Amino acid sequence: MKDKKLRSAEWFGRTGKDGFIYRSWMKNQGIPAHEFKGKPVIGICNTWSELTPCNAHFRELAESVKHGIYEAGGFPVEFPVMSLGETLIKPTAMLYRNLVSMDAEESIRANPLDGVVLLCGCDKTTPALIMGACSVDIPTIVVSGGAMLTGKYQGRDIATSDVWRFSEAERAGRMSEDEMNIAEACMSRSRGHCAVMGTASTMAVMAEALGLTLPDNAAIPAADSRRKVLAHLSGMRIVDMVKEDLKLSDVLTRQAFDNAIVTNAAIGGSTNFIIHLLAIAGRIGVELSIDDFNTSALGIPLLANLQPSGKYFMEDLYYAGGIPAVMKELDKFLYRDTITVNGKPMADNYKTAECYNRDVIASVETPFNKLAGISVLKGNICEHGAVIKPSAATPGLMKHAGRAVVFENIDDYKSRLDDPDLDIDETCVMVLKNVGPKGYPGMPEVGNMNIPKKLLEKGVHDMVRLSDGRMSGTGFGTVVLHVSPEASAGGTIAVLKDGDMISLDVFKGTLNVDLSDTEIAERKKQLTAPTDWATRGYVYLYQQHVEQAHLGADLDFLKGGSGSEIHKDSH
Ligand code: FES
Ligand code: MG
Repeated sequence: MKDKKLRSAEWFGRTGKDGFIYRSWMKNQGIPAHEFKGKPVIGICNTWSELTPCNAHFRELAESVKHGIYEAGGFPVEFPVMSLGETLIKPTAMLYRNLVSMDAEESIRANPLDGVVLLCGCDKTTPALIMGACSVDIPTIVVSGGAMLTGKYQGRDIATSDVWRFSEAERAGRMSEDEMNIAEACMSRSRGHCAVMGTASTMAVMAEALGLTLPDNAAIPAADSRRKVLAHLSGMRIVDMVKEDLKLSDVLTRQAFDNAIVTNAAIGGSTNFIIHLLAIAGRIGVELSIDDFNTSALGIPLLANLQPSGKYFMEDLYYAGGIPAVMKELDKFLYRDTITVNGKPMADNYKTAECYNRDVIASVETPFNKLAGISVLKGNICEHGAVIKPSAATPGLMKHAGRAVVFENIDDYKSRLDDPDLDIDETCVMVLKNVGPKGYPGMPEVGNMNIPKKLLEKGVHDMVRLSDGRMSGTGFGTVVLHVSPEASAGGTIAVLKDGDMISLDVFKGTLNVDLSDTEIAERKKQLTAPTDWATRGYVYLYQQHVEQAHLGADLDFLKGGSGSEIHKDSH
């Protein structure tokens, strides 16, 4: 592949007026002439933003990537795309994942780039950038920002999953507002993203298991100097990837996706993994369906003892051997020969890994929990599917029938949840409608509804809850998510009423309401079209075109790619 002409030569290799324009303005940054003479031009796609605290250290990380690119003889150019901070963006960062993917795709294609390094951190920034890059398909490597150090509060370890516990404690009167304020600072005490196996960590693991990163990318803490070393080495490696013409489509085979699914099960990854991986598969043209995620049936055990399914934190995972040690355990479940960005088969990247702490990374023979992964549910409430994470659920509730207590939308839920007159007990099934992709819009992480205050005070900590929304990867409970079709798209969840009997059987993979098809059809005739959808702007585009959760919630017209060729000049 050595002689393949660099893509960037279509800009910087030109003579005459066009070449002048392409180079001259770049030179105002102090770039010497030789940089433009046939060096691979590497874009560093940066989701840095002070509004995305998890990615706020990315300008420094980009410097390490640049050092590596220079060292290997490349020409680095850093560029921003819209950033998505999970904690601040309303109504939900997920609404903008597809927008960021478009930003990344168009920025990569439109510019003189031969390869790209994706700097990913907070939840949605990882899938958004990978999705966009897939639709261009030039050599690409992912560098994650790393997780925060474990929080320390009153002598104990805390991280994001404790937010739900603190909020329960505050509502039950066991924690004061002052204590809450102190805990805030104790939890987020270093750079990096959430320190549990939430969605950000899940996405970093996904990228590593897909083969899109150098080994160890997922678990090195953000504050650990080895994170910078990995960024530097990734910068060096992308230059060679350009020379080898090793593209995303070479790495992202169906087998690579299967490796990611197996690894996600073993680490107790977030349910959001499903939606993001489906969307990535759609962009790169790999056939994948929601049924391929039914990993609880495959006998893959839970190996990583990490919150929210277990006890430990992301930094513990790194000290215990990281993802290579996990994948080494999983060897018999994995495709060993899939090519990764370092040009080596996956098995080469983990075969020398060692586990230093069996309490954090268990062996396949003695797993931390036999229940792992995700169960896909089907039934008359969710013809296209719904999901539940057994390892985060209460074993006694995985087969359960109960009376529905229905909230029509998020406002209804918020206004009535703590009403002392709410007719609910711990055997009921809480139903939340209209929090799906089109309905909310953007499918927010509200599926792990709070337990009503009066039940909390009775000591109830879990109930069956179901919705067309998502749950934070840091959340837990017996929570059925991603019900498809969603209420706003006329799904059966839209016609559920208080008192309907709902039965969940995770072992059989079913979720049903005790209603006849005729009764459901009759109720559906009474449904009226939503009147509150956006009439302009991106949200209009989103609501008109977003696909349902079981397909990955991408915009229908973004499926596939448009390649990297551009046939028209700008001048
Ligand atoms: Fe950014 Fe959790 S809020 S990773
Ligand atoms: Mg999250």
